[in-house]
Amino acid sequence: MRILVIGRGGREHAIVWALKRHDRDNTRRIYCAPGNAGIAQLAETVDIGELEFDRLVEFAREKAIDLVVVGPDDPLAAGIVDALEAGGLRVYGPRRNAAEIEGSKIFMKNLLHKHGIPTAKYETFTDYESAKAYLDAQPVPIVIKADGLAAGKGVTVCFNREEADAALRETMLSKAFGAAGDKVVIEEFLEGQEMSILAFVDGETVRPMPAAQDHKPVYDGDKGPNTGGMGTYSPLPHIPPSIIDVAIETIVRPTARALVAEGRPFRGVLFAGLMITKDGPKTIEFNARFGDPETQVVLPRLQTDLLDIFLASLDGRLNDIEISWSDEAAVCVILASGGYPGAYPKGLPIEGLESVADQDALVFHAGTALKEGRFVTNGGRVLGVVGRGRGIAEARDRAYAAADRIRFEGKINRTDIAAKALV
Ligand code: AMP
Ligand code: GLY
Repeated sequence: MRILVIGRGGREHAIVWALKRHDRDNTRRIYCAPGNAGIAQLAETVDIGELEFDRLVEFAREKAIDLVVVGPDDPLAAGIVDALEAGGLRVYGPRRNAAEIEGSKIFMKNLLHKHGIPTAKYETFTDYESAKAYLDAQPVPIVIKADGLAAGKGVTVCFNREEADAALRETMLSKAFGAAGDKVVIEEFLEGQEMSILAFVDGETVRPMPAAQDHKPVYDGDKGPNTGGMGTYSPLPHIPPSIIDVAIETIVRPTARALVAEGRPFRGVLFAGLMITKDGPKTIEFNARFGDPETQVVLPRLQTDLLDIFLASLDGRLNDIEISWSDEAAVCVILASGGYPGAYPKGLPIEGLESVADQDALVFHAGTALKEGRFVTNGGRVLGVVGRGRGIAEARDRAYAAADRIRFEGKINRTDIAAKALV
C-alpha cells in the first residue's frame, strides 16, 4: 500500500502516525508532501507544495500511489481532490464543490439557513457602506468574519463598538485577510461552551468521532487574538452525552444530507465547530477536513485502523465497518513561537525532544525543520504535545510534564488547556 499524505502540520503528523501504527507487517509506504521534520521520521517527505497539483499528480503516478489523503483546507478549497482524481488517483477528501462549506462562510451560512440547521443569525455584505450601516444597528458583542479562508484568523469577536468598527475596516478596507475579506458575514454573538465534532462522512453516512474542545485565543483565560488553535482535549467529561447527540442529530447529519440535496455530496472528514448555547447547540463553522489540533487528541483514541476507514469510505462501505474508540483521555498542548499569531522568528534550535518517550507523551511536529541534523522551529505552531491517561487530569499532567521538558527560545504555550473540564 502506497499512501501520499498532503500537508505539513501537526494534523498531518498525527494522520501519518495513525496510519503507521497499524502497519504491523511493514507493508505501508507513506509519503508526505511537503511534511515536516517530525513527519520525516515516519514517512518519506517530498518537496512539493500542497497547491502544486500538477507536480503532485506526476509524483503520485510515478510512485504508483494507491491512496492520497489531503490534510489542509487551502488545497481542498482550490479543488485538489478534483485535480488528483482527474489524474486517475484515489483520494480521500471532499471535492471542491463540497469543500466550499469551509471555503466560503457565506455559502455555509446560506446552506444552513435554507435547510433549517441551527446557526447564529447573520447578514452578508460585499460593500463596506452597507456593512457599516448594519453593524451600527446591531447590539454588541458582535462577530465579524471574512468570507474566505484566512488561516483560522479571519474572525473577530468584538465586545464593543470601537472593536467592531476597527474589525470591519481592517477586514473590508485594509484587507488584513486579503481577498478573503472582500465579502463579510456579520453575525450574532453566541454565548456558551464550544465543542468540535469531527465525523467521517460519505454522502449521507455520518460516523462521528468523539467530541473535542479547542482553545483558539493565544493567551490563558481565552485572552488575546485568535490562533489556529493552542490546545485541545477529548473527551469532554463536563458536557452531557445527550447534548453531543443533539448536535450530531440536529447539525452534523442534516448538513451531510443538505450537501447531498444540493448535489455536492461530501466525502471526507466534516468538522462542525459548535457553541452550546442555552437554546442548544448552534453552528459556528464547518471545516472540510480534520481539525488541527483536534486530530492530535482524537486519532490517538482511535482503535480501528484509520486506513480501513479511508478505504471503506472510498468503496462506499463506511456504514458497514466497525469503528472503535478507547476510553482514555488525551490532552494536546501546543508549543508556539514567541510572537505568534503575529510575526515570529524561525530556525531556533529545539532542545529536549529526546527526553520525551512515547509512553510519556506523543509529540506531533507542526512547524519544525532539520538544520545541520538538529530540529529547529519553522512555524508559528511548532509542536503539539499529547498526554494520555485514564482521565483528563492525568492526561493533562502528562502533557504539561512533557511540554516543560521541551525548550526553544521564546516558546509560548497556554497553561490552562483542558482546565474547563476539571472545574
Ligand atoms: P471560526 O474561525 O469561525 O471558528 O471562529 C473562531 C472563533 O471565534 C470560534 O472558535 C469562536 O470562539 C469565535 N466565534 C466565532 N463565531 C462566533 C459567534 N457567532 N459567537 C461567539 N463566538 C464566535
Ligand atoms: N482547530 C480548528 C481548526 O482546525 O480549524
